[in-house]
Amino acid sequence: MDILVVGSGGREHAVIRKLKESKNAGTIYCCPGNGGIAADAACVDVSATDIPGVAALAKEKKVGLVVVTPDDPLVLGMADALEAQGIPAFGPSKRAAAIEGSKVFSKDLMRRYGIPTARYESFDDPARAAAYLRAQNRYPAVIKADGLALGKGVVIAKDENEALEAVRSMMEDKKFGESGSRVVIEEFLEGVEVSVLAFTDSVSVVPMAPSMDHKRALDGDEGPNTGGMGTIAPHPLYTPEVEKRCMEEIFLPTIRAMNAEGRPFQGVLYFGLMLTGRGPVVIEYNCRFGDPETQVVLPLLEGDLLEIMLAVREKRLASVSAGRKEGCAACVVLASGGYPVSYQKGFPIRGLDPDGQVPGAVVYHAGTVRAADGGFLTGGGRVLGVTALGETLPEALDRSYAALRKISFEGAFCRSDIGQKVL
Ligand code: AMP
Ligand code: GLY
Repeated sequence: MDILVVGSGGREHAVIRKLKESKNAGTIYCCPGNGGIAADAACVDVSATDIPGVAALAKEKKVGLVVVTPDDPLVLGMADALEAQGIPAFGPSKRAAAIEGSKVFSKDLMRRYGIPTARYESFDDPARAAAYLRAQNRYPAVIKADGLALGKGVVIAKDENEALEAVRSMMEDKKFGESGSRVVIEEFLEGVEVSVLAFTDSVSVVPMAPSMDHKRALDGDEGPNTGGMGTIAPHPLYTPEVEKRCMEEIFLPTIRAMNAEGRPFQGVLYFGLMLTGRGPVVIEYNCRFGDPETQVVLPLLEGDLLEIMLAVREKRLASVSAGRKEGCAACVVLASGGYPVSYQKGFPIRGLDPDGQVPGAVVYHAGTVRAADGGFLTGGGRVLGVTALGETLPEALDRSYAALRKISFEGAFCRSDIGQKVL
């Protein structure tokens, strides 16, 4: 079966690499892809949000499945539009993708169905939001734009000034456009974060290895929020007891809630959790694979990814085996100097080895462009994600850093403390 993967980052590269191992995978296409992905898939220059363009490409190439990977096309309804034209798609419907597309929707869902989450109120009027903040007078406070905001729509305000400024920039200055016309203001949660990516066909839930992202740009969780600077899996603090609670108190109730709302979710549901003193609590849902969580979670997946995706779409997930491999994975992101604020592109990347830099390592391309001489140039903020497997987390991390040290480009930086907080 030929497959089209929609998207262009390190996550998509990891999905493609895993699909290539599937026994029934034929030609894999990617739109738009990137320089490094082009070594593993036939890249076609169609934007990831161009619904008619993706549908036309899927028909032209007669693919048996389109994997809609990023959040924005899912929230726009790409999976529904493809299915309506008879093109099988992996990814939730527009109505189900609202679980990520609207924070007001997801918070209200959790409140209605008793799913543990931070206490909150939502507002569509900036004056009322400001009045609430003043009356509460509890900091830090968390302010979230309702809609998608390229991962930048969450502000953790340490005092009233910062909180009011966040409300103003989202609701009045429209920093994120219509995404900020409503905001959620919620309680600040303390604890350890875990990301659980789970396959679900709306009947069963099959979690992949629990992982931990590192969202801040600099060591010690300093600096601005990024798309993610590195990941480890499995998460050492996500014990079997925690997993059992999450399944009973969060995962299954969420699936049932979405069914009860007439929004059955089929695809990958990402649970962003905080392990708190009162147990696991949902920070957020995403309607898709996380980036760079996918780069550690898929290498640890035992089962056949194409088979699992088809089973999700056909609501027979319980009939296939997903499974987890033994061992651990770590991914360290090599980013462009200045990311996430402002950075230059087009620098030659030295030291890339198509076979991985060291045994057990694989380099996923997040933002690279093919150079005229056959090498690669930097083409984004996050440039590469270097994943390595090991029997233990320290071993996986050592290999990942050893591989990463062989690669260089002007201004390159990475965090040097991935995983350290929980080792
Ligand atoms: P999000 O963009 O929703 O993934 O949020 C970005 C990050 O903000 C999360 O990964 C958390 O680290 C942090 N965050 C979001 N909500 C809360 C909260 N209620 N309490 C503490 N941290 C939070
Ligand atoms: N790494 C977080 C996300 O994909 O949203």
